[in-house]
Amino acid sequence: MSAEVLRSHAGASSLSGFIVANPQMVALLATASRAAASEGKVLITGESGVGKDLVARHIHAHSRRSGRPFVAVNCAAMTDSLLESELFGHVKGSFTGAYRDKPGKLQVAHRGTIFLDEVGEMSLRMQAMLLRFLENGEIQSVGSDGHASHVDVRVVAATNRNLSELIAAGQFREDLMYRLRVIHLEVPPLRERRDDIPPLVEYFVNRTGRSVRFGEAAMQLLIRHRWPGNVRELVRRGLSTTRGNYRALLKLFGMAPADYKRFLNFLAAHDCRADFREFRNGAPEMARRPELMLPALQKPKPLSAESPLASVG
Ligand SMILES: Nc1ncnc2c1ncn2[C@@H]1O[C@H](COP(=O)(O)OP(=O)(O)OP(=O)(O)O)[C@@H](O)[C@H]1O
Ligand SMILES: [Mg+2]
Repeated sequence: MSAEVLRSHAGASSLSGFIVANPQMVALLATASRAAASEGKVLITGESGVGKDLVARHIHAHSRRSGRPFVAVNCAAMTDSLLESELFGHVKGSFTGAYRDKPGKLQVAHRGTIFLDEVGEMSLRMQAMLLRFLENGEIQSVGSDGHASHVDVRVVAATNRNLSELIAAGQFREDLMYRLRVIHLEVPPLRERRDDIPPLVEYFVNRTGRSVRFGEAAMQLLIRHRWPGNVRELVRRGLSTTRGNYRALLKLFGMAPADYKRFLNFLAAHDCRADFREFRNGAPEMARRPELMLPALQKPKPLSAESPLASVG
């Protein structure tokens, strides 16, 4: 993190690009660091965009396994059979398109950490397979009839779903939840830690390489906003205003047109690059109901000294 964030927001600190000022978050990260020292499985819960991914990486980075791979698997991003082969690997010829043996992510993560993201979306069949693996550490590649191999991985899982509700609805195995939730970290939503907003805003602005200063009025609006999409929402809001036009975002945020590529790279690196088509036809809530938008973002206009987004080149 930049020294500026520390200077202007006393108490804010950053661990592996993790901006934290709120005492509850500081405590949560301390717990995460202690959890990192153990081998216990960790379940990270919290709303979308709160930073679960960052917490998982923080745990790996502070563990004895940090020199070994951190392998993330998004359990919601693929079909059941693809996820099975993704996790456990497959042997050549086991299905159409399996031209060669492919190791699973669990094998790739050997001696490191496997991050099972969106674990609440796993099918009951995959949950049963995962449970079996957690019980004996053994994996059998898709299509292999040979003996199972043994891998040593630390398991960190995350979900934005309420697992107890899924269990009540018969969609998630209770025994699997207990297996995964040896250590439970619940990341609070941004609206419950508004003291994190000013350093976060400053951090993101600094990362663009431009110096843009938010006036007191604009900062107060940001602090009071409810942030249903948490940290990821900041960019999506801008996109609603510009109807999916990334170039127009630069103007909105007071950046130079020459920074376009850098800005896009920044968004991609932070997993914040939303599909512009979603915003093209004014489909999202914010575009249909502009009164929900922050007044400062509602009327993009050239930044001037009176603008709440007072900018310094
Ligand atoms: N405290 C923070 N400091 C710096 N960046 C943050 C912080 N919290 C979140 N971010 C950034 O916000 C974005 C969303 O965070 P992340 O991907 O970790 O959320 P998530 O909880 O995993 O969300 P989802 O459930 O949608 O996957 C990322 O680009 C992340 O780097
Ligand atoms: Mg995530």
